Amino acid sequence: MTAEILNPQEQKGANADDGILSLVRTDVIDMVAYQSARREQSGGNVWLNANEQGGNNVYTQAIEQLNRYPDFQPSALIQAYADYAKVQSRQVLATRGADEAIEVLIRTFCEPNKDSIVICPPTYGMYAISAKGHLTNVKTVPLNRERQLDIAALATQIGSCKLVFICSPNNPTGDLINQNDIISTLDMFLGKALVVVDEAYIDYCPEASCVELLEKYPNLVILRTLSKAFGLAGLRCGFALANSTVIELMSKIIAPYPIAKPVADIACSALASDATLLLKRQIKQTITLRQDIAETLARLPWVENVFPANANFILFRVMNIKICEQLFSEMSRNGVLIRNQSKQLTLENCLRVSIGSADELAEFKRLLTGFVPDN
Ligand SMILES: Cc1ncc(COP(=O)(O)O)c(C=O)c1O
Repeated sequence: MTAEILNPQEQKGANADDGILSLVRTDVIDMVAYQSARREQSGGNVWLNANEQGGNNVYTQAIEQLNRYPDFQPSALIQAYADYAKVQSRQVLATRGADEAIEVLIRTFCEPNKDSIVICPPTYGMYAISAKGHLTNVKTVPLNRERQLDIAALATQIGSCKLVFICSPNNPTGDLINQNDIISTLDMFLGKALVVVDEAYIDYCPEASCVELLEKYPNLVILRTLSKAFGLAGLRCGFALANSTVIELMSKIIAPYPIAKPVADIACSALASDATLLLKRQIKQTITLRQDIAETLARLPWVENVFPANANFILFRVMNIKICEQLFSEMSRNGVLIRNQSKQLTLENCLRVSIGSADELAEFKRLLTGFVPDN
């Protein structure tokens, strides 16, 4: 914690340029973060300050130091992700997946029964669910016909929300959100709300990242994860990237030991430079497979539209709801699970398929090309 945040009175004016302290829940400003043993003290060689079991036990022989609580934010992991994302380590908070970052942001900035977030559907469902779980109002500003931000409609929310969630590439449409529109949104909401750009799928198109905007916009938060391109969904490791004031405020709300030691170790290995070379190769493979599935879909007479894909999934629209349901059932009867997105705003008759392994997609393709809709 910086002295500034622990002493809000002295802070006034010092950081007034970033406006973040006028957005955060007022009780969080005065809140002192839980001082876990690991956060309060470092060094020493006899650790008797955290009620841990001394020495390894039968369960932990294989992995050293599981009798100890991990660091609050393991420094090797934070540095490794900061290097990968090309930001400063003080701009990174490691979380249990991007989902936890969403929840911590809402808990940090939104007062229950009072504050609101804005979402731009069709989009990822957890923004609304986390908000509702925290008794926070959800305002919807749907994407426009081009599935881009409706800037004029967003402008009507200035002053009446704390967080604006934008997902790019967007799940489930697969679209990138125009960066100029994100910049307009950041400008409009500067000092009024944080703009949270969820980049869970950005590793498939890193050139589209908003990360460079962090320098200019104190109201920008970027969400990242190891669950997608890194192939580590089971690990539960994600990150919030933001200016250090936001990171420090979120650090007051998140659990005291969010990142388990084996998680940090595996995540560090995945972020090592030789592993990120492998990652790039895997991403290329995913894009090749994606192209093949998109072309296959586009050739089918009952497929009306294949949405432009920028991540590891493809959204496609079939001609009517009957075909949509038939195809979905046919796939699931054969053990191939895809996602029916028809209930999402503007996504009638739409299905989403993830770009899995070559073998998984071969099975999907076999069923797809053998499928005959009965009219
Ligand atoms: C857009 C988006 N954001 C966040 C998440 C959650 O990611 P994580 O596994 O890191 O919690 C997902 C998961 O599907 C997602 O699609």
